[in-house]
Amino acid sequence: MGVCFCSLLQVPLSIKNPNKMADTGNWALALTVCAVGFLAVRSDIITEAPAGRLFVYELHRELFQSEFEPSHKVFGQFYNDPMVFKCNKERFPDLPRWLRFTQRDSYDNGFLYGTPLPQDQGRNIIEIFVINKRSYGTFRERLVINVGPAVKRMPYQAEFFIERREIEKVLPAAVQEEIKRDIQLLWGTSRLDFVNMTSALDRGGRVPLPLPGYFEGVYVKLGSDQPFSQCMLQLETPEQQRECVTGGKVSGDCSTCTNPINCINWCNTVLWDLSKPVPRAPVPTVGSGVLAWGGEFSPPDSPPDRDFLPDYIVTVVVPFALALILCLILAYIMCCRREGVLKRNTKTPDLQLYHHHTIQDNASELRRMAGGDRLTVDPPRQCLQPLLMAEQAMAGR
Ligand SMILES: *[C@@H]1O[C@H](CO)[C@@H](O)[C@H](O)[C@H]1NC(C)=O
Repeated sequence: MGVCFCSLLQVPLSIKNPNKMADTGNWALALTVCAVGFLAVRSDIITEAPAGRLFVYELHRELFQSEFEPSHKVFGQFYNDPMVFKCNKERFPDLPRWLRFTQRDSYDNGFLYGTPLPQDQGRNIIEIFVINKRSYGTFRERLVINVGPAVKRMPYQAEFFIERREIEKVLPAAVQEEIKRDIQLLWGTSRLDFVNMTSALDRGGRVPLPLPGYFEGVYVKLGSDQPFSQCMLQLETPEQQRECVTGGKVSGDCSTCTNPINCINWCNTVLWDLSKPVPRAPVPTVGSGVLAWGGEFSPPDSPPDRDFLPDYIVTVVVPFALALILCLILAYIMCCRREGVLKRNTKTPDLQLYHHHTIQDNASELRRMAGGDRLTVDPPRQCLQPLLMAEQAMAGR
């Protein structure tokens, strides 16, 4: 593109050239360079999506792989890099309301899918950022989705619940065909189209345990211009609804599945018959615009007086009186019922008292000696003195 722009700038300069032939030559050169420039610039991917029908676009990892490593293709090297995709509407932070993106794992392909409504018609430019998780290279791609008017009328629509599937597993075209073939047998017509596909998680389903045998579940909605088969209509009979509520095998279940993981849950099937015109809501009658006279306004009376004295007694006076009584009892016990040291000493025999005092004195002496004021206390010489003297006498001999 840059080259093209430069050569267009150069053209007006060369117009000053008096040679007419050289001038046309210049123009031709500029146009050629421009055309080459356009071809060299990667064009956007352009897709169509009619309103009211399921749109699915698969983001193939292997296509982007060659964008990241164009030279490796030449040398026969092959990488299988983990990649993640970030998609948003151009100049917006998110995708359009009708479009959703899903990718299970960085080693799986990504999918853009959704059902545009008639009011979503127009051009949607989706920016796709591809991030290579091995080399951390990024790559930007633009996808243009032209949403056009609905191409088919599908007055009969039915939604089926496939329990043992995940949304990423049913979006590939081959699996869609597989599911459609089973429904075709059930519906008795081959004129079926997918209207919508939703993961049960988007409809309030629970995230399954990460163990084999647990699935998220997928709702698929198909539409047709052919009426429902006799068997499908049985779904709406009261007997079948009762059987569905009680659980277990339903007698009228006529669904088939060639691949067991595509089996539908018969009782979760919902039918919509849009062929009958919906009765219009009755038009509201227009009055005169003046409200009818409703009489004088009489304000409500003030409520009757209430006596709060019993409440006051129960919540304030009684607890306060109890606290006061407890206080008095405690004060009597503390002040009037103490034994006193003198009274105790007169009751104790003298010998026991003497014994007690010597223990107390010895203990306090030991404590004093062990404390910081050891130097001020007399060292206990009394028993060491004779021993020392005897020793000195023996040494002198
Ligand atoms: C498709 O399913 C999604 C999720 O349930 C819902 O929000 C959307 O309205 C559906 N679209 C159509 C066209 O039914």
